[in-house]
Amino acid sequence: MSDTSPEDKQVRRGNYAQSKNEIVLREHEYDGIQEFDQKLPNWWLFTLYIAIGWTVVHWCIYYYTNSIQTDQQRVQAEIVSVEQQKAKALEETLRTLNDETMLTKWVPDPAVIAAGETTFTANCVACHGADLSATMTVDGKSYPLPGLSLVDGQWKYGSKPMDLFKLINEGTPADSEGHNGARMQAWGQVFSPKTVAEVTAYVISRNPKDFGLSE
Ligand code: HEC
Repeated sequence: MSDTSPEDKQVRRGNYAQSKNEIVLREHEYDGIQEFDQKLPNWWLFTLYIAIGWTVVHWCIYYYTNSIQTDQQRVQAEIVSVEQQKAKALEETLRTLNDETMLTKWVPDPAVIAAGETTFTANCVACHGADLSATMTVDGKSYPLPGLSLVDGQWKYGSKPMDLFKLINEGTPADSEGHNGARMQAWGQVFSPKTVAEVTAYVISRNPKDFGLSE
């Protein structure tokens, strides 16, 4: 809505408005709204050019050199390092843990059994029951749970202390069908070897006869 001629407008662009303190509007109008026709300030243009330049530099560094790791590479490296630490911890635990030390050192230690019971209560009762019988009693009726009974005197995958440790640590063996089609997960993926040893000790402590311990 301005009454200036086209030539006049050419002259009046750019810095004109700034220097003359006058506002020049663009011809295009929509719903009665027009835009200022002014040159962008240099500081603004510089940040734009720097951002464009940085995009190119960053793109090259990110994708064509290996100096910056992607999130995926970082997560991968983190997982590898955690697994290495776990393997090392397992190796260390196994150096002193065997059928004999389990029965003479771990099981008789009340702190170990208390820790094992805590782990069991929080993670195992859902399938093996609070009384380890793999059943749940509701209104006087007994219902079976998915796991095997841990107090029936039967040990499906071996009855030595380290057989239990191995089964809990590694879960149902790959070549086994499991129990009614249910397989147990490898708890070693969730817990440290020490925690697995503690919960194993707890299960053993609840079956003293099976392991030749006095009650
Ligand atoms: C989601 C259900 C589930 C949970 C939770 C679970 N188990 Fe199991 N557990 C099973 C099943 C199913 C089997 C039978 C696996 C098979 O036959 O291969 C089993 C078997 C076992 C056995 C072998 C029993 C035997 O008679 O040989 C032990 C020991 C055991 N679990 C200990 C644990 C411990 C300790 C925990 C907690 C850290 C735990 N389970 C948590 C489902 C579970």
